[in-house]
Amino acid sequence: MTHTTTKTALITGASSGIGKALAENFAKDGYNLVLAARGIAKMQTLADDLQRRYKISATVIGADLETKDGATKLHADIKARNITISALANNAGYGSFGEFKDSALPTELAMMQLNMNTVVVLTKLFMPDLIATRGKILNTASTAAFQPGPYMAVYYATKAFVLSFSEAIAAELEGTGVTVTALCPGPTASGFQDKADMHASALVKGKKLPSSEDVAAAGYRAMQNGQRVFVPGFMNWVMAQSVRFTPRNMVTAMVKQMSKPTAA
Ligand SMILES: NC(=O)c1ccc[n+]([C@@H]2O[C@H](COP(=O)([O-])OP(=O)(O)OC[C@H]3O[C@@H](n4cnc5c(N)ncnc54)[C@H](OP(=O)(O)O)[C@@H]3O)[C@@H](O)[C@H]2O)c1
Repeated sequence: MTHTTTKTALITGASSGIGKALAENFAKDGYNLVLAARGIAKMQTLADDLQRRYKISATVIGADLETKDGATKLHADIKARNITISALANNAGYGSFGEFKDSALPTELAMMQLNMNTVVVLTKLFMPDLIATRGKILNTASTAAFQPGPYMAVYYATKAFVLSFSEAIAAELEGTGVTVTALCPGPTASGFQDKADMHASALVKGKKLPSSEDVAAAGYRAMQNGQRVFVPGFMNWVMAQSVRFTPRNMVTAMVKQMSKPTAA
């Protein structure tokens, strides 16, 4: 398969899970890729595979995006390579499970840096590219964005930020040709549960979760359709809608019940 396009997508968190699967979707569509995360070896294996199968070019950049200057360094690195970004997938992120009173503050702050600040910085710095190319922004939020989340209080709040930010700039960018899509998956099989140390949570324990590949493919289609908010999975969508008509205290109590640690 040979593509004549020069579209390039930057995907953060491309070393694993949903980001890795998003890279496949972009490549299949003929986008050249810039893959960014810390796991360089995993991304290089992915890049080699996608270049071979889809005849695109893929650049791997090691980036720690939970550091204060990680996002600006990544932007500078991409500009130094003379690459113009026409699709930005702000996907890197993680959660942390447990009671806020016991959690490690440095972890919460690093998570906030990655899940929120990095999204804002990359969106800001690549905006000239995106406007020039009438490009696309795909921000991985979560169903966590729709309500408070006891036992993952900071994580849920970061995703509420991503959703609100995405919808607001989508409205501002009307008429520019740039679309913004907030992808809001429910629990999905990926490296997320290990990293968040949440296998004891009733949200995921003993549940068969949808694959990262299915979630990414659906999210990619929503982005191509210019959909502003996309919740994959019918039940996730029903839950996201129902919280709008339920008293907030009740919703929070329900999430507490659904998320709480269960005995091993
Ligand atoms: N899985 C779920 O249940 C679920 C549900 C809703 C939303 N989400 C969201 O989906 C997104 C992708 O997560 P996932 O489920 O695919 O989990 P994952 O398999 O753990 O992937 C997370 C990705 O983020 C990258 N990342 C983590 N810390 C980073 C850092 N400091 N700098 C740069 N990259 C970093 C990881 O790469 P390195 O470790 O190599 O740096 C990895 O590529 C996240 O934003 C997550 O919040 C996940």
